[in-house]
Amino acid sequence: MINIKTKLPGNKSQHILKKLKRYAGCYCHVYPFIHSHKGKGCYFQDIDNNTFLDFASQIATLPLGYNHPNLLKVLKKYNSTPIKYAGSDFLVEESLNLMEELATITPKGMNADFLVNSGAEAVENCIKIATRSRPNSKFAISFEGSFHGRTTGSLSLTKSKKLYSKNYLKIPTKTLPFNDSAADELKKIIKKSSAKEVGFVILEHVQGEGGYRIASKYMVKTVRKICSHNNIPYIADEVQSGMGRTGKWWAFQNFNITPDIFSTAKALQVGAAVSSGKNFPEPGALGSTWGGGSVLDMAMGLEIIKTIKRNNLLSKNKAHGDYLTRQLAQLDIKNPRNLGLMVAFDLSSHKEQLRIAKSCFKNGLIVLPAGLNSIRLIPPYIVTKREINEAMSVIERVLKAS
Ligand SMILES: Cc1ncc(COP(=O)(O)O)c(C=O)c1O
Repeated sequence: MINIKTKLPGNKSQHILKKLKRYAGCYCHVYPFIHSHKGKGCYFQDIDNNTFLDFASQIATLPLGYNHPNLLKVLKKYNSTPIKYAGSDFLVEESLNLMEELATITPKGMNADFLVNSGAEAVENCIKIATRSRPNSKFAISFEGSFHGRTTGSLSLTKSKKLYSKNYLKIPTKTLPFNDSAADELKKIIKKSSAKEVGFVILEHVQGEGGYRIASKYMVKTVRKICSHNNIPYIADEVQSGMGRTGKWWAFQNFNITPDIFSTAKALQVGAAVSSGKNFPEPGALGSTWGGGSVLDMAMGLEIIKTIKRNNLLSKNKAHGDYLTRQLAQLDIKNPRNLGLMVAFDLSSHKEQLRIAKSCFKNGLIVLPAGLNSIRLIPPYIVTKREINEAMSVIERVLKAS
């Protein structure tokens, strides 16, 4: 149960936050508390002993919540150093184990991976896989509202907020609307330049940071068709939506399409660019010192996939996401929506969005803003109906307090 015992931030957190401000570059304390590393399931404690209910899952990276017994067992196994190997060059068995397991949940034929450390790096390597065999490519195509990461390549494709990219050097891109007119706009671009000049098209089938907007089936189907027809690589960014959160292993499976390449990270604990082996460039063309080199992360990712399978969490994600959205639909909010356990609703303004996120926090519930006026709810996959009801009572209370 939520239990907030101090004013927030508590004294111990405040002490560390003050010091952090002095040393951390680009300091931005969105949630002002310090984690204690204690917690169980969907709950965690800060160092002032306050207990929070986490409906943000460390930004979708904690599918099994805090201190899951299966992951604690994995942790126990790794009691020697190094934990990180220079994994591109010096091989470890954990890479094979993870890739073998990944191949059981990726679409047929997409059983080759390049392992990296983060979501942005996964996207960077998708870009490289797509364009290696396209010497005439002059620009990439992404969607309005998209978020693909903050390294300069992935940032070039990110359109959600100007703050992220102002003045940084970028690779050239064109932007499609995230609606049913996307295919017509794509056709116009191809007609004006040529299909060979399009490096690739990349999209999130459910936009994450951009506001939890779910693509229309028509948009996905028509854009996919044009890409296939013109031999343009179609990349799905599954960094946030992948690994079962939508009730299927990959969000694109809800749209009955298969991309040419896709990125995954977050819930997998390591980043990966995934495609068919024949699409990858020659050996040596991709590399990274730490690429998938943390044996602990790879072993955790492996156990997470196995636990999701064993505990039937895909269908639970669908059921719990639908249940949470039905509860939200009874409140005075706009556009409650979900695809599995990617759940969101809209508020009347950006100011209201920030107020609700902050009030939830003060009441012990961690939620995340998304887009200009949305709140996203992404609890761990192990969430129960009782915990959803507890979160709902906080949301109801803070909405009423406006
Ligand atoms: C869809 C998507 N792509 C890429 C990224 C970048 O991932 P990372 O922050 O691990 O670099 C994110 C992060 O939120 C994301 O949501």
